[in-house]
Amino acid sequence: GHVIVLAGGLSYEREVSLRSGRRVAEALRSLDIPVELRDADATLLDSLASDPPDAVFPVLHGAAGEDGSIRDVLELLQVPYVGARPDACRVAWDKPSAKAVVRRAGISTPASVALPKEIFHDLGAASVLARIIDRLGLPLSVKPTRGGSALGASVVREAAELSAAMVGCFAYGDAALVERYVEGTEVAVSVIDREGGPVALPPVEILAPGGLYDYTARYDAGDTEFVTPARLSPEAAARVAETAVTAHRALGLRDISRTDLIVDAAGEVQFLEVNVAPGMTETSLLPRAVSVAGLELGAVCRDLILRRLA
Ligand code: DAL
Ligand code: MG
Repeated sequence: GHVIVLAGGLSYEREVSLRSGRRVAEALRSLDIPVELRDADATLLDSLASDPPDAVFPVLHGAAGEDGSIRDVLELLQVPYVGARPDACRVAWDKPSAKAVVRRAGISTPASVALPKEIFHDLGAASVLARIIDRLGLPLSVKPTRGGSALGASVVREAAELSAAMVGCFAYGDAALVERYVEGTEVAVSVIDREGGPVALPPVEILAPGGLYDYTARYDAGDTEFVTPARLSPEAAARVAETAVTAHRALGLRDISRTDLIVDAAGEVQFLEVNVAPGMTETSLLPRAVSVAGLELGAVCRDLILRRLA
């Protein structure tokens, strides 16, 4: 038998996913696990059906990878795979839906509005932009409702910048999440399912150049500084861990997730989003947390695969 690490695909995050996939494949091979690193292309279905692997480890970022559709296929073929089920992915991948679910679970998340592109045609851009600022104030964070790696995302500090931010956002998606931008400590908390339930790994504090954790800051080694574990009070550290585990549970996620949060000036934890296929590149957050926890990425991935085969 063998394990397939599924990466690439056709999303905007294809290159990131290939880097993540290589890292996971290497980590598993270092434990002598037979691994095929496979692109999610048009020949995937045939090869899964004709030569079924023991399990699939999907490391696909972006649409198809995180919206549940590839996992629907794996369910159909009855191939075991690591990670959340399709229905849970669909909710987690859609940022407004994820925010609504975690809010019901008692987690704070910044005030926001989600706007389909069409509303600008129907109501006129000027009136929509004015109403957004009326309702949410400034600064704002603008991002596609479904997306990753900060593609199409920007921070708006002045009213005049909002319109360009919306255009940038709609280049990557058909709907925008406009959110109150919360100043504070940016922290990512990875969650791994273990025997006794989901466990939070050490929080990673993100110190991006100019405070902007954009695509370059994410993937150009050395651009962003990380502090792991994050410099938080013991109480705040406990709260971010609890928030990530609560989000993982409330969204019905499985095996692995990473929740991105802000700890605001008052020490309150604000949920930004959750990732069902967290980045696994050399500069990514989950592998960093794994290593600071004293764990080995290959062993963590192997254990997740074994849970699916049990
Ligand atoms: N979307 C990227 C891969 C991440 O969340 O790490
Ligand atoms: Mg994300």
